[in-house]
Amino acid sequence: MIAPSILSADFANLAAEIAAVGPSDIDPGVDWVHVDVMDNHFVPNLTLGMPVVESILKATDIPLDCHLMIEDPGRWAPPYAEAGAYNVTFHAEATDDPVAVGRDIRAAGGKAGLAIKPGTPLEPYLEILKDFDTLLVMSVEPGFGGQKFMPEVLEKVRTIRKKIDSGDLRLLVEIDGGISASTIEQAAEAGVDCFVAGSAVYGGDDPAGRVADLRRLATAVRDKH
Ligand code: DX5
Ligand code: ZN
Repeated sequence: MIAPSILSADFANLAAEIAAVGPSDIDPGVDWVHVDVMDNHFVPNLTLGMPVVESILKATDIPLDCHLMIEDPGRWAPPYAEAGAYNVTFHAEATDDPVAVGRDIRAAGGKAGLAIKPGTPLEPYLEILKDFDTLLVMSVEPGFGGQKFMPEVLEKVRTIRKKIDSGDLRLLVEIDGGISASTIEQAAEAGVDCFVAGSAVYGGDDPAGRVADLRRLATAVRDKH
């Protein structure tokens, strides 16, 4: 799955930017649109919130993958699911009770995702992952697009992939940060299902072409296995 992050898109033209990676006569388009919500507290950057997400939901049929880099997700995350976001991911570091937050997101009709920063170990969360639909492994420090991919986080992807392949767990493994044509293959090799890419998709003038490149590279790795 490919999920372009609109963080690197033109915020004054979001509908057109999303349509540019959407389905066309010759292309099925992207799987999810990744929407980065930042509150300037959990991360040192501020982006957009519910009103903009509600407008995006009206502008596209592509499922929205909302990545909440915010404090107090217990209070703020469920409304995104209620509004119609397909997958709602919050940070493990932002709450003492991730299971409760995930449960509330699901009760509001969304898929629940747990995100972990590059320095956050996976082990303390292994037990609760059965209560989630998505694990988002950050491969840069959350907050900004265009940063350098951190290959060391792939160890966490390999660990979780093994558990999924052995039937111990069922969830989608997503990676976010620094994914481009030069890094996507190693992430695919480690066992990622869903690739978020911001600057690699929206940094040039042919977003749909860049998505097609990324999909081709990831698919080739998958087909090899
Ligand atoms: C960073 C965001 C990412 C960001 C990725 O905190 O979570 O989704 O858009 O951007 P690139 O793909 O440019 O690293
Ligand atoms: Zn993100």
